[in-house]
Amino acid sequence: MEFFLTPEQLMIRDSAREYAQQHLLPGVIERDLNGTWPQEQIEQMGQLGFMGMMVDPQWGGSGLDTMSYVLAMEEISKIDASASVIMSVNNSLVCWGLEKFGSAAQKEKYLPGLASGQLLGAFCLSEPEAGSDASSQKTKAEDQGDHYLVNGTKNWITNGGHADVYLVMAQTDARLKSKGINALIIEKGTPGFEVGPKEQKMGIRSSDTHTLQFTDVVVSKSHRIGEEGFGFSFAMKTLAGGRLGIAAQALGLAQGAYERSVAYAKQRKTFGQLIGSHQAIAFKLAKMATDIEAARLLVYKAAQLKDQGAPIDLASAMAKYWASKAAMEVTTEAVQIHGGNGYVVEYHVERMMRDAKITQIYEGTTEIQQMIIARGLGI
Ligand code: CAA
Repeated sequence: MEFFLTPEQLMIRDSAREYAQQHLLPGVIERDLNGTWPQEQIEQMGQLGFMGMMVDPQWGGSGLDTMSYVLAMEEISKIDASASVIMSVNNSLVCWGLEKFGSAAQKEKYLPGLASGQLLGAFCLSEPEAGSDASSQKTKAEDQGDHYLVNGTKNWITNGGHADVYLVMAQTDARLKSKGINALIIEKGTPGFEVGPKEQKMGIRSSDTHTLQFTDVVVSKSHRIGEEGFGFSFAMKTLAGGRLGIAAQALGLAQGAYERSVAYAKQRKTFGQLIGSHQAIAFKLAKMATDIEAARLLVYKAAQLKDQGAPIDLASAMAKYWASKAAMEVTTEAVQIHGGNGYVVEYHVERMMRDAKITQIYEGTTEIQQMIIARGLGI
C-alpha cells in the first residue's frame, strides 16, 4: 500500500528497513535471550536521526512528519521490537511532549541531546496503584515555593535504567484530582532519585523496564512542563501520539511474523506438498495479510491526521486497538504455521509472539483503548 506515500517517506522507510536488516537482525536473538541493552544500536539509530524523527532541526531533530516516523517504527519493529520501544518512547512520549509543551529553555537544554540519541528519555506515569486509572497518581510534588518536593514510586518505566531525562507526573493538589497533577523534568542522578532493579519480562527483553523511587527529590519549578496543573492533560495529549507509535510497532511485529510465515510456507513440505498449498495454511496466511492491511490503514490514517494537525485521540486508539490485536493473533498463527520450529528461538516467531503481547498492555491496555474509542464515538 504505497499509493499516498511521498518519495521522501518511501526513502525513510527503505533506509529504516536496510538499517534493521544490517544492524538489528544480527544478534537480536542473543540480545533477547540475555536481556542485553542494545547500546551500540541505539547510538547508531541516534546518528541516523531515528531517535528524534519529528523534532524540528533547530532543536537537532530530523524534522520529518509522523508518517515517516510510523514507517520507520514499522520497519525497526519487524526485526527488533525491543529497539523499537526504546525509539518510540524517546520520540513520541519524550521528544514530542517536550517540543510541543516545553519552555524554550527546556527545549534548548534537552532536545538536541534527546533527538541525537546522546541522551535518552523516559515517560513516568504508571504507579503501583495507578496503571489504567492514571489520574489516581500517588506520587506527590509538594509545592515549596520555588520548587517541588517529590516523593513516590513509579513502575513499569520503559528506558528506566538507561534514561538521562525523566518526565514525571506527580500530584500537587489531590483535591483538584487530574487538574492537580504536574509534569516535571527530573534528571538522572538528582539526589533522592533511585532506579530500582530491572524487571524480568516475557517479551521486549532487551529493552529495560524499572521501578523508580523518589525520596524528597527537589525539583525546581523551572522544570515543570506547562502551567501548574497541566500534567494530566500533558500526559493524555502526549500518549495519543505515543499510542500511534505502539500501533506502528504492533504493525511491524505482525508484518515481520507474516513475512517469515510466507517464506516458511513456500519451502516446508508435508504430505508431499509445500505447506502453503494446504488450505489450512493458505487460509491462515490470507487472514493474517488482511488483518495486517486493516491495521496499516488505521495506522497510516492516524499518522496522516496528526500531520494535518487534526485531533488523533480516537484514530490512534483505534489504530492501537486493532494493530495490537492483529499482532497478537498473527504472531500466534506464525508460531503455529512453523510448527515445532516455531517454538524454538532460531525461527524468530516465538520472540515476536512474546513481544506482541505488551502492545496490548502498555501505553493504555486494549480495554482502555476501547474506553477511549467509545467516548470518542459519544457513547
Ligand atoms: N487530551 C487532553 N486532555 C485530556 C485528554 C486528552 N486526550 N483526556 C483527558 N484529558 C483531561 C481532560 O481535560 C479532563 O478534564 P475535564 O474534567 O475538564 O474534562 C481530565 O483530563 C480528566 O479526564 P478523564 O475524566 O477522561 O480521566 P479519567 O480518569 O476518566 O481517565 C483515561 C481517562 C483515558 C482512562 C486515562 O486515565 C488513561 O489514558 N489511562 C491509561 C493510562 C496509560 O495509557 N498508561 C500508560 C503509561 S505510559 C507507558 O506505558 C509508557 C511506556 O513506558 C511504554
